[in-house]
Amino acid sequence: MIETKDTIIVGIESSCDETACAVVANGSRVMSNVVATQIDMHARFGGVVPEIASRAHIEAVNTVIREALDTANITSNDVSSVAVTHQPGLIGSLLVGLMAAKTLSWVWDVPIIGVNHVYAHAYAAALDSQPIEYPAVALICSGGHTALYHCDAPTEMQLLGSTIDDAAGEAFDKVASILGLSYPGGPIIDKTARDGNPAAVAFPRTLLKGQSLDFSFSGLKTAVLYHINGIPGMKSTGAPDEAPRGIENFTPQQIADVAASFQAAVVDVLTIKIRRGVQQTGAKTIILGGGVAANSALRDGAEKLAAKLSAQLRTAPLKYCTDNAAMIAGLGYHYLAKNQISDLTLKATPTVHM
Ligand code: KG4
Ligand code: ZN
Repeated sequence: MIETKDTIIVGIESSCDETACAVVANGSRVMSNVVATQIDMHARFGGVVPEIASRAHIEAVNTVIREALDTANITSNDVSSVAVTHQPGLIGSLLVGLMAAKTLSWVWDVPIIGVNHVYAHAYAAALDSQPIEYPAVALICSGGHTALYHCDAPTEMQLLGSTIDDAAGEAFDKVASILGLSYPGGPIIDKTARDGNPAAVAFPRTLLKGQSLDFSFSGLKTAVLYHINGIPGMKSTGAPDEAPRGIENFTPQQIADVAASFQAAVVDVLTIKIRRGVQQTGAKTIILGGGVAANSALRDGAEKLAAKLSAQLRTAPLKYCTDNAAMIAGLGYHYLAKNQISDLTLKATPTVHM
């Protein structure tokens, strides 16, 4: 139901492989949240194919917008603004959502607001919930991004560190492929790891120099690959505890052990970086966002860390961890409140230095 004083924002998201539209009141009350996922179209390629993604966005976008407006039971007269992901993401995909948002902005005569997708992930925990208490340290890990921020407000984000190679979600996806598990890798590794021993294989924890807040996951991914296939050019030692060679020679229990050990290494690194971020900034709130924030071991690890640091942990419910437009509309509200609006010249930017 709409109150006359409500500020209603329509959000549009199309940066990667989800076409999404949502209607959010006052930056937090989600009135509708429609997501059309393309996961099935990309699964057989083991990753997102940009050309397929942009075409699928074009096919889905009108229906998704219609459904979001109908579910929220609003008309264009109720809308204060259209917020849209304009960076970062796949350029062809971003352009579809951006053109749809510009069209609505023009036809409805309401301002358009450009929203950074990664910043929006850090806002998702405030949806259908209490406002986040700032200052906070936010860890955003998804298929494309792994970054740590110091946040003074929903719109004030300062980058503390980011990945120098693979994103955490990308590491989950690649390791799942090495283990012969399906795409996307995060949910299936999470599930498989439940039957495994996280201490079975001592995979490396790459922490980089000194008190660095940057991340690196490519060494870990390679360590899993060598564990499964052996080190190229190196002969078997014949030791009884040596891992078998080739995934077809691993038992389901051994695969579960590798999944659990890999996941434990990722979670250790992520939680150590959050701890460093909190200690370096003095923040009292920890925010977890992005697809990998759906990981059960990471959520447990972050909860324990928050308790140890006497900090408050804010994680979004699973449906707002992965890509959605409610987080875009929600954050858009705070830009509108500061009159940080854009116009029809708003551009899509695939990569940004955050
Ligand atoms: O935020 P998101 O939906 O899209 C991007 O912006 O990239 O994140 C997708 C990523 C994928 O790499 C997927 O494997 C990972 O999030 N993911 C998970 C889990 N659920 C999704 N990673 C670990 N554990 C999970 N439960
Ligand atoms: Zn995302």
